[in-house]
Amino acid sequence: MVNRERNTRLLETLKLPENSVCADCGLPEPDWASCKVGVFICLQCSGVHRNFTESGKVKSIRLDNWEDERLVQFMIGNGNLKAKKKYEAFVPPFYYRPHARDCDVLKEQWIRAKYQREEFMSNKATIHTTAHREGFLYKRGRDSKGFQERKFVLSRSEGVLKYYTKDNGKGPKGIIPIQSLNVTFQGEKIRHQHGLEITYMKDSQTRNIFVYHDSGEEIVAWYNALRAARFHYLKTTYPQASEAELIPKITRNYSKVGYMEKTGPKQKEAFKKRWFNLDSGGRKLLYYKNPLDAFETGGIFIGSKERGYTVKEGLPQGMKGNNWDCGIIIGTPAREFVLTCENVKEQREWLDVLRDVLSQPMTKEDIMEEANFRRKHPK
Ligand SMILES: *[C@@H]1O[C@H](CO)[C@@H](O)[C@H](O)[C@H]1NC(C)=O
Ligand SMILES: *[C@@H]1O[C@H](CO)[C@@H](O)[C@H](O)[C@H]1NC(C)=O
Ligand SMILES: *[C@@H]1O[C@H](CO)[C@@H](O)[C@H](O)[C@H]1NC(C)=O
Ligand SMILES: [Zn+2]
Repeated sequence: MVNRERNTRLLETLKLPENSVCADCGLPEPDWASCKVGVFICLQCSGVHRNFTESGKVKSIRLDNWEDERLVQFMIGNGNLKAKKKYEAFVPPFYYRPHARDCDVLKEQWIRAKYQREEFMSNKATIHTTAHREGFLYKRGRDSKGFQERKFVLSRSEGVLKYYTKDNGKGPKGIIPIQSLNVTFQGEKIRHQHGLEITYMKDSQTRNIFVYHDSGEEIVAWYNALRAARFHYLKTTYPQASEAELIPKITRNYSKVGYMEKTGPKQKEAFKKRWFNLDSGGRKLLYYKNPLDAFETGGIFIGSKERGYTVKEGLPQGMKGNNWDCGIIIGTPAREFVLTCENVKEQREWLDVLRDVLSQPMTKEDIMEEANFRRKHPK
């Protein structure tokens, strides 16, 4: 028998502003609770909590029977604000706090780090502050399709991430400067849910490498160690800037990735399927023959409306796609790019993110980058 009166009292608690979003991912209207740590959470996060919590302590506010009055009192007396003060007291500024739309491994490890491993309850924990990290990651070979175990060494003081082949004596196989490093989770493209894409500038081109680790805890620790190194680099390079200014610059994610088909400059060429990454901050839509290529096949600079860039829905009159018909036309001062998406949903999403970039006015740096980009991508 469900005790309606207890559920009703708990539902009232959910109306408090601090309990109106999930304590762990920020999703609105959470209606689950962990009575171990006293937080209100969404259905998905409740699954992670259930994995390290005694049975019967992760409950639905609406559907479960709250037979134990003490649990009800505990939830009413605690809640998201109190738990945050306790479990997130010392989250380092570079540490990535995932959102509802981030991949599962980030959310799972954030929850485990907070409540199970209690990594942020005191400022004595050194796990997040070590300036050196080394270990093995699976890395995709540049020209071979397989992943091989490679030793990686991150040195904050040298400002580099290095990796070695089996033969250690030969010195590093690759040296990646923290100065131009970017890192994002790209599970879909790498086909491993712990897949990380690391990009950096090499000979004025963006080079991509792909790695993963079987352990979710390890891969998220690497991700945050790289963020810590980036943050250290930014702080020493821009000593006057505030933390709030630097944090968004630590790493940058794509606003959308996925396949589209593309024709050439004459618009008579056959449509070819390409993988696209949209870096909204850098105003670049880069495309690849294979999603895991080391370098892009080509790219489109996405300027602003004021500077003559346009994004239109549909295909030019009389044109037909190859396999796909949901068209997008990107107009730049130099030429028109015609792309097609697999379905209307994909087309809608691409149009939204592209129009969003178009509506942002260009900064001085953007204008310099536009000229640079044209030199590199003359067509
Ligand atoms: C719970 O743990 C199991 C076994 O480790 C795992 O397969 C599953 O994905 C976990 N569930 C969540 C929601 O984290
Ligand atoms: C970045 O975007 C990808 C999808 O494009 C997503 O899976 C991932 O979780 C995002 N977040 C981070 C921090 O990499
Ligand atoms: C991230 O990648 C972009 C290109 O995609 C590059 O312009 C930028 O310098 C990289 N580094 C950072 C930290 O944003
Ligand atoms: Zn959640």
